Amino acid sequence: MQSWWYDQNPARPVYPFLAEDLSCDVVVVGAGLVGATTALMLARAGKSVVVLEGRSVAAGTTGGTTGKVSLLQGSRLSTIRRHHSEHLRGYVDANRAGQDWIRAYCEASGVTYDVRDAVTYATTAQGEKKLRQEQEACQEAGLPVVWDTDPGLPYAVRGALRLAGQGQIDAVALTDRIAADAVAAGARIFQDTRVLKVDGGSRPRVRTEQATVDAQDVVLATGTPILDRGGFFARLTPERSYAVAFRTDGPAVDAMHLSVDSPTRSLRTSTPDTSVLLVGGNGHTTGRARSEREKVEDLVAWARQTFHVGEPLAAWSAQDYGPTRGLPYVGRVLPMEQHLHVATGFNKWGMAMGAAAGLALADDLLGEEATWREAVQAWSRPALRDAGAAAAVNATVGVEMGKGWVSAALSRDDEPPAVRGFPPCAESGDGTKVSGVCTHLGGVVEWNDAERTWDCPLHGSRFAEDGAVIEGPATRPLRRR
Ligand SMILES: Cc1cc2nc3c(=O)[nH]c(=O)nc-3n(C[C@H](O)[C@H](O)[C@H](O)COP(=O)(O)OP(=O)(O)OC[C@H]3O[C@@H](n4cnc5c(N)ncnc54)[C@H](O)[C@@H]3O)c2cc1C
Ligand code: FES
Repeated sequence: MQSWWYDQNPARPVYPFLAEDLSCDVVVVGAGLVGATTALMLARAGKSVVVLEGRSVAAGTTGGTTGKVSLLQGSRLSTIRRHHSEHLRGYVDANRAGQDWIRAYCEASGVTYDVRDAVTYATTAQGEKKLRQEQEACQEAGLPVVWDTDPGLPYAVRGALRLAGQGQIDAVALTDRIAADAVAAGARIFQDTRVLKVDGGSRPRVRTEQATVDAQDVVLATGTPILDRGGFFARLTPERSYAVAFRTDGPAVDAMHLSVDSPTRSLRTSTPDTSVLLVGGNGHTTGRARSEREKVEDLVAWARQTFHVGEPLAAWSAQDYGPTRGLPYVGRVLPMEQHLHVATGFNKWGMAMGAAAGLALADDLLGEEATWREAVQAWSRPALRDAGAAAAVNATVGVEMGKGWVSAALSRDDEPPAVRGFPPCAESGDGTKVSGVCTHLGGVVEWNDAERTWDCPLHGSRFAEDGAVIEGPATRPLRRR
């Protein structure tokens, strides 16, 4: 399963891997949209920047995004209003700053930025109620949304919210360009260079398999933070979801649509080819679906039935991390750790907010501060207020932990793929046997039958059939058995 965006960008830049020790002002770990933006802003401000990427530029969530750069974000604003009303406007302002930056950057650098309306629609009475709450939150935040009874979809809806003047992008093209500009401004990017450990202190040291980099500051732009310091994994829910691309006769939709009801349906045309329809949805907590393949098949079947499209051009999956109560976490890994920084919890809205996070992290290191900064701080009072909700997330995680170990110990499955025994051993059927115990904090991995990977149901670490780390908070592979 490969993202449509990689097919659209066949000639991608390749960076070397890190083979020698280095010293610099800032190490940025991760070259998704957040890491690339942070690196560019810091390099342009004259900092010496080293970017360490475990795979390649935009290989993570940024490579699998649907790329809507929107301030209308499903039901997110009403969620924030419910829990952190004092930061509703700040959150919207942060997103507006990120959106403005992306748009201006695209215009200046020739990357396509399509202006589109964003539409969130409801198909059920419950969804309509949610949408009305979202309308109130948008109005309170100063967003000029309008109620729309016919958002131009080939099925009945009960109502929709429309916000004009939003944008859609090819996030791989954008991130590649930002990374290239960061290099032009003096940053050094290393790919296939996984960070295994970061020693904190007044001058942190970042360790990879081959080399060490010491720096004044380290930014963990790794999706979910790879360090357990700060316990972000316990405040985040990893959510995997799916997307499919189809050829159509002309544009199938004229806006960026998102259902407020479940299962989620996200629609847009591709960029720049508007005769390709992108359909997303069917999200679930990573490692907790009965069958990931069924999720993809269901999405394909829905799209074919609804839009009368043919075979998919591409089908893929990606994951993002939901914060406990709406606001992302951007800032220090711990309040007293001055030199380690994180950005996470975008909850599938990390385009505008991802760019804003990059701007905010660069500002933090350059001694500047945007007016909206407090709304998305990692350790501000609203973030701490999430503790109760985090306890609920962890109760579920605890149940998953127990379930995994017990079911592996009792498993009578004869045929792989399966996780069996005590301690659990994972066998995919290609002859490789690896430990079934996640190297992050000991969860028992589950087989992902769509992507042929081992996914951890606790905090979303994912491993290839041979045990290599793909993503998530784990940094070490599953051991060979
Ligand atoms: C299906 C889907 C659709 C989405 N659609 C939208 C949308 O339409 N609009 C929107 O605003 N948002 C959307 N999002 C969310 C958005 O795509 C993400 O929030 C955003 O891309 C996150 O960017 P990032 O840079 O934080 O993470 P990533 O892009 O995941 O980048 C993190 C990078 O860190 C690297 N890394 C990780 N660990 C290490 C390590 N130990 N050493 C070195 N490197 C490491 C990874 O390889 C990766 O390249 C969507 C998300 C999903 C899952
Ligand atoms: S991701 Fe935390 S235990 Fe597996």
